[in-house]
Amino acid sequence: MECSLGFVQIPSTDRSELIRATQLPCTTQVNGVEARLDKYGRLWSPVLKNKFAIGTTIELIRNDSGYEIFPAETNASLVSTVAEQKDKAAFVKSKLGESLKTITLEPYFHANSIYIFNDNILKTEAIAEDSIDLIVTSPPYGVDIKYENYDDSVPYNRYLGFTREWLERCYSFSKDDGRLCLNVPLDKNKGGQQSVGADITCIAKEIGWKYHSTIIWNEQNISRRTAWGSWLSASAPFVIAPVEVIIVLYKKMWKKTHKGKSDIIRKDFIEWTNGVWNFSGESKNRVGHPAPFPVELPRRCIKLFSYVSDTILDPFLGSGTTLLACLETKRAGVGIEINKNYCDLAVKRLKEYGIFQKKLEGL
Ligand SMILES: C[S@@+](CC[C@H](N)C(=O)[O-])C[C@H]1O[C@@H](n2cnc3c(N)ncnc32)[C@H](O)[C@@H]1O
Repeated sequence: MECSLGFVQIPSTDRSELIRATQLPCTTQVNGVEARLDKYGRLWSPVLKNKFAIGTTIELIRNDSGYEIFPAETNASLVSTVAEQKDKAAFVKSKLGESLKTITLEPYFHANSIYIFNDNILKTEAIAEDSIDLIVTSPPYGVDIKYENYDDSVPYNRYLGFTREWLERCYSFSKDDGRLCLNVPLDKNKGGQQSVGADITCIAKEIGWKYHSTIIWNEQNISRRTAWGSWLSASAPFVIAPVEVIIVLYKKMWKKTHKGKSDIIRKDFIEWTNGVWNFSGESKNRVGHPAPFPVELPRRCIKLFSYVSDTILDPFLGSGTTLLACLETKRAGVGIEINKNYCDLAVKRLKEYGIFQKKLEGL
């Protein structure tokens, strides 16, 4: 994970200097190698991929062919070995170009190969294109859950519009053999009956996601039912399936293109490839979040659908459950969460889970 970044964001304050009047998107060069500036001012290049850890401060210079990039530290040695220049910025500018900029790529929390970004998945610049092996997530459900700063009571059409946006972004973050396990309700009746699972599946397919299967998660929630519609009458009875679904999608090819180590045991493989999963939900009060899923859900998805050391993303991290499962299963994990208090909660849970004690071998 440390090396998966494939771009740098040119800060808007420096655009006039570093991008000038160039029409975006455009092609350019980084360190003499072909590169691309996208419409958001992000500079993508193979030179950056697998090179700089998130959190690295880098120097960026514009020159005749495009850009020169190097970590801030190596710049110091360059200056001292090449010339006795006291002012390294002035030296580099005079040698290589007119502008030198320092950019820092900061996560909210980082330990081992686990990263949290306090960010909006629709806007985040924290994740490289084509870098994620598996996405496991449970987005807001659009059923008026009381999140701290997300309005979950939006009209259904707007909810589906939001769904399309984040699914598009995740599609671009995903590797070609990347997969998505999407936990949503099968349907809903609050605010009008809607086929949530089916509607989201259709949108995902329109974007380009390919359908693999749907796992039924039977939460075994035997709470007392009160809404019968018309009791003992065919007039207008309510039918409710007390289950959620995990829609399993992939970007381009289902078969993984890289070799890796699987860590799933025979018994679990046989049980989990039967697409009806029976385990309990998680308590909101115990976790301190309005809609957590239990660790068992991401744990199963991760062990069934990814290799050890793969990179897992949860774009709606909430209380951090997916990252707990990453820690347990020795995967690199990235979480995006818009609410700072939930980020803090995720960090607290990771610490309780022993993030500073566990060593993630091979990551
Ligand atoms: C259903 S909860 C996820 C719960 C999580 N699976 C857990 O176990 O705690 C959805 C989360 O998405 C967050 N969220 C809503 N809109 C977001 C956005 N645009 N970007 C990132 N996070 C967002 C909410 O704050 C909420 O914590």
